[in-house]
Amino acid sequence: MDTFAFIIHPIDPKRDVSRKFPLLGRVLNEKQIDFLSTFFPPVYISEIEGIQSAANGKEIKGWFIACPYTPRRMMELPEHAVYRKIIQTGRLAEKLGAQILGLGAFTSVVGDAGVTIAKALDIPVTTGDSYTVTVAVDALREAALVMDIPLSGATAAVVGATGAIGQVCAELLAEDVERLYLIGRRREALEGLRDRLKVRARAELIVGTSMDVLADAQLILTVTSAIHEVIRPEHLQPGSVVCDVARPRDVSAMVAAVRDDILVIDGGMVDVPGPVDFHFNFGFPAGKAYACMAETIALALEGRFEDYTLGKHLTRARVEEIDRIAKKHGFRLSGFRSFEREVTTQQIEAVRRNAKNARLPYIAHM
Ligand SMILES: NC(=O)c1ccc[n+]([C@@H]2O[C@H](COP(=O)([O-])OP(=O)(O)OC[C@H]3O[C@@H](n4cnc5c(N)ncnc54)[C@H](OP(=O)(O)O)[C@@H]3O)[C@@H](O)[C@H]2O)c1
Repeated sequence: MDTFAFIIHPIDPKRDVSRKFPLLGRVLNEKQIDFLSTFFPPVYISEIEGIQSAANGKEIKGWFIACPYTPRRMMELPEHAVYRKIIQTGRLAEKLGAQILGLGAFTSVVGDAGVTIAKALDIPVTTGDSYTVTVAVDALREAALVMDIPLSGATAAVVGATGAIGQVCAELLAEDVERLYLIGRRREALEGLRDRLKVRARAELIVGTSMDVLADAQLILTVTSAIHEVIRPEHLQPGSVVCDVARPRDVSAMVAAVRDDILVIDGGMVDVPGPVDFHFNFGFPAGKAYACMAETIALALEGRFEDYTLGKHLTRARVEEIDRIAKKHGFRLSGFRSFEREVTTQQIEAVRRNAKNARLPYIAHM
């Protein structure tokens, strides 16, 4: 039976450590977990079974293994120390017999996005970023549809547009919408991206380094590697949709608490083919996975045991190919979730209603 492994790591330290070690999660505070994570070895989490291709019935199995570092730790420690720990975790995958390794969340963000890690390991590696791009953009398109926002006349924004995932998301959206804000921290890099994209874009492209321009956007795809929230309630206009692909999240939980006129969806969630059991709760309902996990699984189902998505420059060809491979084996965009809760049709109706009411005072003043 073909096999894969996927590296996860604590993102919300207390919550995630509790999922594997309830006692440690209870007694340690966040700072202690952050500190102790430096000395922790890689952790075996679970065996994954029940995945079955919808195309040919092929079954595979896999494993979750954890790199103990938190995002903060990965940003603070020297790059070589982080690589060392991820490579150690990869060795555990090799010992288990995995034929391909996926890098979850920040293990794919750090440094050169998997290149050094793949060189050091004997099994092929993928970051999962190519499939994350299609899933995120499709989720935003579908959310636009249910919120009645026609894409061709929409103003959209990609936050973290100079990033590995952000760049291709921007490229795809630039072909869909009327106006697209490219938002990041480095103006020069944003201008370079704008110049590259404008050759094929139908959208007017505007670069920005402040979140204030988000007030002008109806559709927002956010995918930064910030370890704290970057989008707050006051940045957003009534009736807008935000697809948050980043882990840790980019959108403040305050948005859910105080803005019932905005649809925030978790980006990158898909249904996995077959009666899958992850034997570990990573916060999704049964049968669903992150797009980056799904890329690793789809490659194993396809028998493509090769380095697939590595580095900070994703290619459109890979993004389209993995989309085809995943669709063929039965991966599907999942329903909407927001801050780890299902979004019902009634809630979407309520957001649309609240947005209409929230716009009324502005109209009355005009
Ligand atoms: N949901 C999923 O399935 C999934 C899959 C893979 C990855 N992810 C998540 O996606 C995110 C991005 O990954 P990536 O590989 O694309 O990362 P990346 O290549 O490092 O790009 C990160 C982008 O975020 C920007 N950024 C960082 N901190 C910022 C801040 N404080 N304010 C504004 N912009 C900021 C960077 O801007 P500069 O150019 O200025 O540095 C860059 O454009 C991570 O959170 C990762 O965990 C999710």
